[in-house]
Amino acid sequence: MPGWHDQDDGPPTALGLLRSRFLAARRSDRGTGARRPSAMDGYGEMHLALVDATRDRSFRHILDIGIGTGTTSRKILVVHPNATIVGVDSSRLNLEAAAACLPPEQVRLVRAGLKDPLPQGPYDLVVSALAIHHLETPAKMSLFGRISDALIPGGRFVLGDVMRDPRRFERVRRSLRGRGNRDEPGVDAGHPLKDQPDLLEDQVAWLASMGFRTTVSWQRDALAVVIADKAVGGVG
Ligand SMILES: C[S@@+](CC[C@H](N)C(=O)[O-])C[C@H]1O[C@@H](n2cnc3c(N)ncnc32)[C@H](O)[C@@H]1O
Repeated sequence: MPGWHDQDDGPPTALGLLRSRFLAARRSDRGTGARRPSAMDGYGEMHLALVDATRDRSFRHILDIGIGTGTTSRKILVVHPNATIVGVDSSRLNLEAAAACLPPEQVRLVRAGLKDPLPQGPYDLVVSALAIHHLETPAKMSLFGRISDALIPGGRFVLGDVMRDPRRFERVRRSLRGRGNRDEPGVDAGHPLKDQPDLLEDQVAWLASMGFRTTVSWQRDALAVVIADKAVGGVG
């Protein structure tokens, strides 16, 4: 069964299978001109909203967490053409794809897990799209703390991700598993290749408790973009 692999080296995830279905439905609708709405419609919009959340000022030193094949970083560089980006991901194949389409003089790629120490900053902007939901709750909270440490005072974290009730998401996963999906440990960095979303309001509350000023700038179904600005005087 064809699937979108978050990590090319691992099995398809629930999100990957949903996306595959969306693409198949879109292909089959082309003949009739019909357009079926889908949860996956929001993906492109979410990337645009994430980039829009960086437009109000100039950013120069950027970290892209879970850079994947570079989709987010490519769009960020259009808006911030003088920036340098450090991209971190555990997937060798995704990093190879990112390296093939991002300017090497502006982008440094680091193969590491999201539980590892972040590449040395500081950064004025940290972005992450559709990666952090793979971490379990304590690991997400820990990563948010490391992001805060890596940002300069007044720096910004923009998170675009799946954020919903994990129990509802588990039902989706179970139904997909019944149709052939398997969530198994990833082979690349030993991290579990699982979708483990937490609620939007919980993630906003964790960030606020760390001293970030937060704004939900975009939301659609299970997807949301959160802007988290670090206090100018450091964590307040
Ligand atoms: C859905 S892709 C998103 C890629 C990119 N940010 C984008 O929006 O196109 C998720 C990425 O997160 C990476 N990832 C997931 N869990 C990870 C972990 N624990 N450590 C490092 N990378 C991880 C995967 O390898 C994958 O490249």
